[in-house]
Amino acid sequence: MEEHLKNDSVNISHLLDIIKKQGTEYLNTLADRPTSINNALIPESVDLPEYGYGTEEVLKIFNKRFEPIMVGSAGPRYLGFVTGGATPASMAGDWLSTIYDQNPQSTKGQGDISANVEIETIRFMLELLELPDSFLGGFVTGATISNFTCLAVARQWLGKAKGRDIAKEGISEPIKILTATPHSSSIKSLSLLGIGSNSIIRIKTEGSDRESICIKDLEEQIIHLNNEPFILISSGGTVNTVDFDDFTEIRKLKGKYNFWWHIDAAFGGFAACSDHYKHLVKDWEYADSITVDCHKWLNVPYESAVFLVKEEYKVLQVETFQNSNAPYLGDPLENFGYLNFLPENSRRLKALPAWFSIMAYGKKGYQYIVENNVALARNFGKLIENSDDFKLLAPVRLNTVCFTLRDDEKQDIVGKFLEMLNATGKVFMTPTVYNQQKGIRAAFVNWKTTETDVQLIFDTMNDIITKLK
Ligand SMILES: Cc1ncc(COP(=O)(O)O)c(C=O)c1O
Repeated sequence: MEEHLKNDSVNISHLLDIIKKQGTEYLNTLADRPTSINNALIPESVDLPEYGYGTEEVLKIFNKRFEPIMVGSAGPRYLGFVTGGATPASMAGDWLSTIYDQNPQSTKGQGDISANVEIETIRFMLELLELPDSFLGGFVTGATISNFTCLAVARQWLGKAKGRDIAKEGISEPIKILTATPHSSSIKSLSLLGIGSNSIIRIKTEGSDRESICIKDLEEQIIHLNNEPFILISSGGTVNTVDFDDFTEIRKLKGKYNFWWHIDAAFGGFAACSDHYKHLVKDWEYADSITVDCHKWLNVPYESAVFLVKEEYKVLQVETFQNSNAPYLGDPLENFGYLNFLPENSRRLKALPAWFSIMAYGKKGYQYIVENNVALARNFGKLIENSDDFKLLAPVRLNTVCFTLRDDEKQDIVGKFLEMLNATGKVFMTPTVYNQQKGIRAAFVNWKTTETDVQLIFDTMNDIITKLK
């Protein structure tokens, strides 16, 4: 055996010990870790080593070159995008996913049957989110690929409704997509699926200060389609202001018209964990497919999301994703194997971190995380509302605060303000545009964030605004 491989193999216990030590030190200081880093720290690239260095030496090289540019994005004051942290249990599951290194496909037979962990985790997810077991689900890398997976089955459904097998024949005529405020990843999915983003018929929102679908306009547009089947992409929490479409009204339309109903509930779906907020997703179980991200509000490490597609469509799902020229895989409907139900063939055991975390903290744990984050977002929203320098751009509906500088004359310095704020390394937020106004988003999804963090963030914002006066 090659020398470094042999040494590493003999020293595996020591190697895991030093990684554990470094990981523990990192986690213990994560809250103080800067949330942004200067570009000047990006190291020069190096050449591919001929003989390698062995793991212990490589750790030293990593620590010198890349460790200093690791930001505290899993920490409590990183409010950019929609960024969750990782619970201790999810980290345990993640480490073990790597160590056991399974490739979950089948639930029975010989060889790797780790897909049973995935099936059980999907059942947990359905119970956690109070969804019925009529959904077939699996793990993919993120909400983008979950949207892609769901919309791919929708595409096959639509083809069949028009007498075509799109998986085999490709797309030969335009597909109508109705939506109001889709996440950019749905648009990307339409491009990837050959449907094309120009196929979108934009539905009005419920007023200029809302991002949710105007049900009246939706029905009018449906009537225009003259019974042509279509795909509806609806939002279970828009990324800017966490607005929810009215699922009860959409359900009624579904009783009258022929369409595939997809919900992108990447993070908003977790409203179902709390008695206070579950009304936001009332009737979402009537959708044909749902996207839920796990590396957001479930607080498991990247890359983790689930797709949920009604089991009644499993033939369409297999038609879309089957490995059709691989007779050794058997009949996909008889021998269940994830590789015939989703985009990737080989995958790591992505379900294990989620399984660990749900088992470790249960329904109550996730109820706490959701309610704590919403309470923090609301308190932060109140500080903004009561301030002379900032104002809300939208009401705080759940866990995200969308705000800007109060003085309309200062629109041109919103970007500068955010740049200075992020440069402090104490907090990270992302820019947005809402209602033609430049704004800033702060999304609370990390299990570690506390009231002390909110106060520190607000004090830092006030320091910056004073400097800009
Ligand atoms: C509503 C919504 N959908 C989809 C996505 C894409 O998620 P991912 O980055 O996990 O692919 C996001 C990310 O913020 C989101 O907020």
